[in-house]
Amino acid sequence: MIRFVHFSDIHVFQADAAWKPRDYLTKRLTGFFNQKYLPRGKQFREAVEVLKRLVDDLYSRKPDMILFSGDATTLGVEEEFAIAAEVLRVGAKDAPPGLAVPGNHDYYTRHSYEAGLFEKYFAPWLQGDRVDQHTYPYGRQAGPFYILGVNSSQPRRWWWDSSGMVGLPQLERLKRLLQKPEAMASPKILLTHYPIALSDGKPERRHRRLKDLAALLEVIREHRVGLWLHGHRHKPYHVKPEEHQPMHALCVGSGTQESLWTYAEYTFDGKKLHIEHRAYQPHPKRFEKVNNIILPHEIH
Ligand SMILES: [Fe+2]
Ligand SMILES: [Fe+2]
Repeated sequence: MIRFVHFSDIHVFQADAAWKPRDYLTKRLTGFFNQKYLPRGKQFREAVEVLKRLVDDLYSRKPDMILFSGDATTLGVEEEFAIAAEVLRVGAKDAPPGLAVPGNHDYYTRHSYEAGLFEKYFAPWLQGDRVDQHTYPYGRQAGPFYILGVNSSQPRRWWWDSSGMVGLPQLERLKRLLQKPEAMASPKILLTHYPIALSDGKPERRHRRLKDLAALLEVIREHRVGLWLHGHRHKPYHVKPEEHQPMHALCVGSGTQESLWTYAEYTFDGKKLHIEHRAYQPHPKRFEKVNNIILPHEIH
């Protein structure tokens, strides 16, 4: 029996974050306007408060491993990373081990990406086996499973472009990581930000989708990865295996978006995967169990 908790898309926003001249030439400007004045911003106005409750609940479950699939921030600025990492207690000595991958908002501008802000603040949750010292992908044993942290996010210039990309060099490294004896001997789980498909099984719109999905699928199918865990979409859902995609895919949704605020606990009992969704209840301001789904345990 092993238990993981999985959360995503917490989208911390810090309106008072400092501006540098270079920021005015990036999509941070449109992103800031959208967040401050459009409905999307309102959906996350309680994000930090709800995140604190999520952390209380999640740590009280005493999981074997914490999994975070990205979008810690809204505009990828340092102040947002600092708040997210502090509230999440990243690196706290008494906390269970964590694994994380960045979301597209964590690389919101080229500066966020090049400065490695996500990697700096989430370093304790990025520990694992690597290929040639590259940050991504990385692999880590968790009980009987081998978890693969793959970065599917890239900085994009235009505000309307939120497409993702793993990239050929990372795919080549992923193949090499999958050939390590620990990976070959264990059932494998992929942790990444972007989804395999929408909740109805259809592909995402062109400017939102993972552009090299087919190439990633080919690698993980060949190496028999049994489960795909992700975020990016803010509502939880499950995509069942099909011929071209022979693994279950679980979207955990957003941990903090108003009315959606959910995270998941996965218990593997050797035969089945029990998924418990826990959602925030504004009264009495805590996370509670909202459903329980059981999947046949087909991760091998
Ligand atoms: Fe998101
Ligand atoms: Fe995202």
